[in-house]
Amino acid sequence: MLNSKQIVPIELPGFPFLVFQTKSGQTVTEDTPFLLDTVLKMYENKPLNVLELGSGTGILSIMMKLHRPGWTITGIEIQPHLVELSIGNASNCSTNVQFLEGDLRNIADYLPLNEFDLIVANPPYFKKGDFRLSQDNEKAISRHEILCTMDDFLTAVSKMLKPGGKAFLLYPLSRVAELKEKIKNIDLQDIAEFSLSTMSNNKDRTIIVELVYADH
Ligand SMILES: C[S@@+](CC[C@H](N)C(=O)[O-])C[C@H]1O[C@@H](n2cnc3c(N)ncnc32)[C@H](O)[C@@H]1O
Repeated sequence: MLNSKQIVPIELPGFPFLVFQTKSGQTVTEDTPFLLDTVLKMYENKPLNVLELGSGTGILSIMMKLHRPGWTITGIEIQPHLVELSIGNASNCSTNVQFLEGDLRNIADYLPLNEFDLIVANPPYFKKGDFRLSQDNEKAISRHEILCTMDDFLTAVSKMLKPGGKAFLLYPLSRVAELKEKIKNIDLQDIAEFSLSTMSNNKDRTIIVELVYADH
C-alpha cells in the first residue's frame, strides 16, 4: 500500500482535479493527451464499451470518462500499486471507471471475449534490450517490454474487440512497420495513422495506429 510520502500530484495544465502518481515512477507525457484527443475526435458521447490496456495511474481512462460520461470504461493494469492509485484518482475526480489488476497476456481469463467497441493503449515503447533499462521498476515495466510484448497487446486487442470495433495503439514511428507486419497474421486491419508532431527532429515520432477488428 502506498503512503502519502511516495506520491506526488500530476501536473496537468487546465485539469481541475487533484490526481497522483508515484514520486519516482512513470510520469504522464504528451502521448496521453495525444491519445485522448485522437479518440475524442472520432467518437461522440454515445454509449460505448471501452477498454484501456495498461492503464497506469488511470489518467487516460479518467479523462475519457470526464469528456464522454456515456462510455463504460475498464482499465487493466498489471502493477498493483498503480491500480490502487488509479482507483483513488478516479474517486478524486468523481468518475466511475472500473480499474482492474490484471495481466493482459491472460485477459480472456477475467474479461468476456469480443465485448469492446473501442480499445486504447499506450504500450511500453521499447523492446527488451533496446536502450537503457530504468533502475526504477515501475518505469522499467512501463517503458520496456518486460511483462508484455507488441504481440501480447495485439493478441489481447483481437480477443477483446467486437467485430467492427476499433483500437488505437500508440507506438514510436520506428516500430510501426513491425506492427503492420504482425497484424497480417491476426484479424486486425490498419486503417489510419495519426502522428504527433514534435519540435525535435532527433526524436522518434509518436504514431497512433487505428486498427479495426474484422472477424473472418
Ligand atoms: C507507457 S505506460 C502507459 C500508462 C497509461 N496508459 C498512460 O497513458 O499514462 C504502459 C503501462 O502498461 C502496463 N503493463 C505492462 N505490461 C502489462 C501487462 N502484461 N498487463 C497489463 N498491463 C501491463 C505498465 O505497468 C504501464 O502502466
